[in-house]
Amino acid sequence: MSTLRQTEIAGVGHYVPDRVVMNAELEQLMETTDAWIQERTGIKERRWFEEGKDTTANMGAQASRRALEQAGLQPDDVQLIIFATLSPDYIFPGSGVLLQRELGIKDNIPALDVRNQCSGFIYALSVGDQFIRTGMYDTVLVVGSEIHSSGLDKSTRGRAVSVIFGDGAGAVVLRPCTREGHGILSTHLHAQGEFAEELIVKEPGSNREDRVRVAMENQEEMYPYMNGTNVFKHAVVRFPQVINEALAQNGFQPQDIDMLIPHQANLRITQFVQQKMQLPDDKVYSNIQRYGNTTAASVPIALSEAVGEGKIKRGDLVCLAAFGSGFTWASALIRW
Ligand code: UT7
Repeated sequence: MSTLRQTEIAGVGHYVPDRVVMNAELEQLMETTDAWIQERTGIKERRWFEEGKDTTANMGAQASRRALEQAGLQPDDVQLIIFATLSPDYIFPGSGVLLQRELGIKDNIPALDVRNQCSGFIYALSVGDQFIRTGMYDTVLVVGSEIHSSGLDKSTRGRAVSVIFGDGAGAVVLRPCTREGHGILSTHLHAQGEFAEELIVKEPGSNREDRVRVAMENQEEMYPYMNGTNVFKHAVVRFPQVINEALAQNGFQPQDIDMLIPHQANLRITQFVQQKMQLPDDKVYSNIQRYGNTTAASVPIALSEAVGEGKIKRGDLVCLAAFGSGFTWASALIRW
C-alpha cells in the first residue's frame, strides 16, 4: 500500500591513491612481519595518500565523478551530497561542502556529513534512500572517503592498528528506481554506545577547558586505540545478525544472496561471517588484501570493483553489511 518510491544505485565509482604500501615497507617502520599481517588480517598491501595531491574531499570527488559518469549524470544534477568519513579534511566544516566545491556544483545544494566510521557508508546510504523515497530529492550523491595514513602511530606501539588501515574513496549515485521490485529493498541500522571507547581517537576531545593544551599533553591519544579482540568478538556476531535481519524483512534466505559485500575489516572476520552464513566463495567479495581497511570507503570501493568486474548483474540480490567503531553496525539489501 506504500506510495513511497524505491531507490536504485544508478552509478558507483572509486578512487585509491597511487602509492602502494606493501607489508614489507611497514617492516621498516615497526616490529612486524608480512607473515603476521597476512595471517591475522589477510592484508598484503594498502594505499597511502600523497600529501599535496590527495585529500579526503578530492578523493571523494574522483570517486563521485566516476559514479556520476556511470549514471550518465553531471555534477550539477546532484541535489544532495552525503559524505561519510572519520578522517575529514578539517575538524570543521565537514568534507561535504569541500566536495561540493571540488565538483564545481553551481546550485547551493545541501551537503550533509555522516560520522559512523566503518558503518558510515551504509548509514549515509540509508539517509539518501529516505530522501529519494519521500520524493524530496531525485539525485543523491553518497560518498565514503578516508585518509587514515596521516593519523596512524607507525611505531611498534601502534602496530596492531596501523597495519590494518588504508586510504581510499568510493561513491554511489542514488536515483528513483523505475523497475518494480528493484533497488534498495531495506536498510538496517544499529548502535551500542556502551562500547564507544573500544575503537576510538580521543584527542582533541571537546570536553576539557583547554582542549588544545590537553591534546598536546596526551599526544598518544591522538592516535586510534582499538581493543582488537573485543571488536573482533562483536563483529562476528553482529555481521550475521544484521544480514539475517535484512533477509528476514524481505522474505529471503542466505542462499538467495548473489553477492555479499561486507565492510573490509579483516579477512578473518569476513571468512567467519561467510562460514556462518554458509555462502560459497564466489558470493562474498573481498579486496582487503589490496587496500586494507578503508572504513567508510571500504563498502563502496568493494561494490565499485565487484560491479566493474561483472560480478554483480542486473537482478542480483546484493547485501551490504558493516560493523565498527561506536559500536555501530548496518546492512542494506538491494535487488540490483
Ligand atoms: O573495521 C572494524 C574495526 N576493526 C576490526 O574489525 C578489527 C578487529 N580486530 C582484529 O582484526 C584483530 O584483533 C587484530 C588484527 C587487530 C589483532 O589480531 P589478534 O589476533 O587479535 O592479535 P592480538 O591483538 O591478540 O595480538 C597478538 C600478538 C600480541 O603479542 P603478544 O602479546 O602475544 O606477545 C601483539 O603484541 O600479536 C602482537 N601484534 C603484532 N605482531 C606483529 C599486534 N600487532 C602486531 C603486528 N605485528 N602488527
